[in-house]
Amino acid sequence: MKNTKLIIAFIIIAIISAGGFYYLKPQSNIKLGAIFSPDDKKLVAFGKKLYANNCASCHGMNLEGERDWKNRNEQGLLPAPPHDETGHTWHHNDETLFSLTKYGLAKTANLKDYKTNMPIYENILSDEKIISIMSYVKSTWPDEIIERHDQLNANQAQQ
Ligand code: HEC
Repeated sequence: MKNTKLIIAFIIIAIISAGGFYYLKPQSNIKLGAIFSPDDKKLVAFGKKLYANNCASCHGMNLEGERDWKNRNEQGLLPAPPHDETGHTWHHNDETLFSLTKYGLAKTANLKDYKTNMPIYENILSDEKIISIMSYVKSTWPDEIIERHDQLNANQAQQ
């Protein structure tokens, strides 16, 4: 009788441990060097709305960017590039993209007098909002580009 109780106690402990392990497991999937979470559906949905309200006027509702985005306009400024896979957004790791949006191009690239139409969002959007927008942007890329971008993040983190 005593033994039965002991066995039941062991089984309960084993189940609790397995549950705990299962619960903790997704954490080991956190990608190296990543700030954005393109797999987080709630965050991506939040980011999609914020993108439409804050970024789409220049970068396009479908992330297509402005026309002729590779050439400077009459004011000598570059048009907004696409954020889809045809642009160079995905050539930058998460940390750089976050900094470009929050602190602007001049500060991030250390180009003091660089003139650009890209706003600085430091006093406009919270870090969480910037992260959600870029998580949405990343979620729209093809799998192959997402994998290459994950690799960029990992490379940066290992330096
Ligand atoms: C008023 C127009 C405008 C708005 C609004 C705007 N951008 Fe931009 N953005 C630009 C322009 C123009 C550039 C290119 C600037 C340059 O290289 O001189 C740019 C560049 C960028 C880049 C660098 C991309 C690369 O490939 O180097 C990122 C990242 C970016 N924008 C993110 C955002 C996000 C996120 C939002 C919304 C929160 C946003 N932008 C809103 C105009 C805008």
